[in-house]
Amino acid sequence: MWPMPPSDPRIQPASTATVEQAAALIRAGGLVALPTETVYGLGANALDPRAVARIFEVKGRPSFDPLIVHAATAEAAFDLVESTPAQAQLLADRLWPGPLTLVLPRRSTVPDIVVSGLPGVAVRVPSHPVAQALLAAAMVPIAAPSANRFGAISPTTAMHVFQELGLTVDMILDGGPCQHGLESTVVSFMEDPPVLLRPGGMPAETIEDLIGPLARRPRAGSPAMSPGMLDRHYAPHTPLVLHRAGSTFDPVGRRVGLLMLRLPPDDAGYAKDYAKGFAAVEELSPAEDLRQAAANLFAAMRRLDAAGLELIYAHLVPDSGLGLAINDRLRRASTRP
Ligand code: TXA
Ligand code: MG
Repeated sequence: MWPMPPSDPRIQPASTATVEQAAALIRAGGLVALPTETVYGLGANALDPRAVARIFEVKGRPSFDPLIVHAATAEAAFDLVESTPAQAQLLADRLWPGPLTLVLPRRSTVPDIVVSGLPGVAVRVPSHPVAQALLAAAMVPIAAPSANRFGAISPTTAMHVFQELGLTVDMILDGGPCQHGLESTVVSFMEDPPVLLRPGGMPAETIEDLIGPLARRPRAGSPAMSPGMLDRHYAPHTPLVLHRAGSTFDPVGRRVGLLMLRLPPDDAGYAKDYAKGFAAVEELSPAEDLRQAAANLFAAMRRLDAAGLELIYAHLVPDSGLGLAINDRLRRASTRP
């Protein structure tokens, strides 16, 4: 079980009735926090610029950072775009619904505020049953960034949403903890070859197996540039430093937290009692399962952030599959001099 938010009529376990209620709020221009398989989103009718403006306000998000539009089906998603290259269609056929966002040339029906005036729109078909039910009931596409304050850690439970945004939203639909725990992978088709704008819950290798190599960064000045690729992001308030290969770290005398995939086994020589001296320890996956690690990452960062530490000391994980996205988030969360 996860801790329940305080009882308030605006925080509701997802059910047929509450999803209907949420859909009515969305159609009326309201804001609803909803579970997706990646992280919780803060949703509004994507075709209603005033409703979308409230998302920016509540998040404290700069208006140059565009939003992902969620749709119930690939067809509904592609209704928002001017053209769909064959490779994008293939990804949609194989990987939607799921943790993958595609940036494609937008139609003029998509309000400027959703895309921050960019030529592309980011679209995604989520697989979470509650997100699916809400999209079907609302009958409009839903623009939804992660339901955290700008720059903070994405929420993976309804309680996190409440901690981030309080009751500034019209409703928080509680669908339990998110399965992936990391935001979607964002791929832009605004240049050729397509570009990996953000590693995420869909491993880059899975995408490349289908459509060939992705560029790892947009060309300078290209329309694929994503203003959301800010360096420091997903950050706890406590300074977080990354372990560098070969470095040693002695927490003695300080309140330091440790974040790593798995503590070294006791027989690893140097590693004996590695965790000793740390004030709090988060092991993301003792079985070294990167899926489990991804699902635990943000909640672990939040727990460490709440532990009254001076510093969080984090180890990167192996850099393949979901490890790419986990390490991306750890790097962005880290404090640079
Ligand atoms: O898993 C997810 O993607 C979650 C759930 C709620 O769907 N959403 C999410 O949204 O993480 P957000 O706003 O936190 O991140 C969206 C990312 C940002 O890096 C943003 O810059 C990029 O997608 N993006 C959105 N629209 C774009 C556009 N039109 N062109 C380029 N990049 C875009
Ligand atoms: Mg976000």
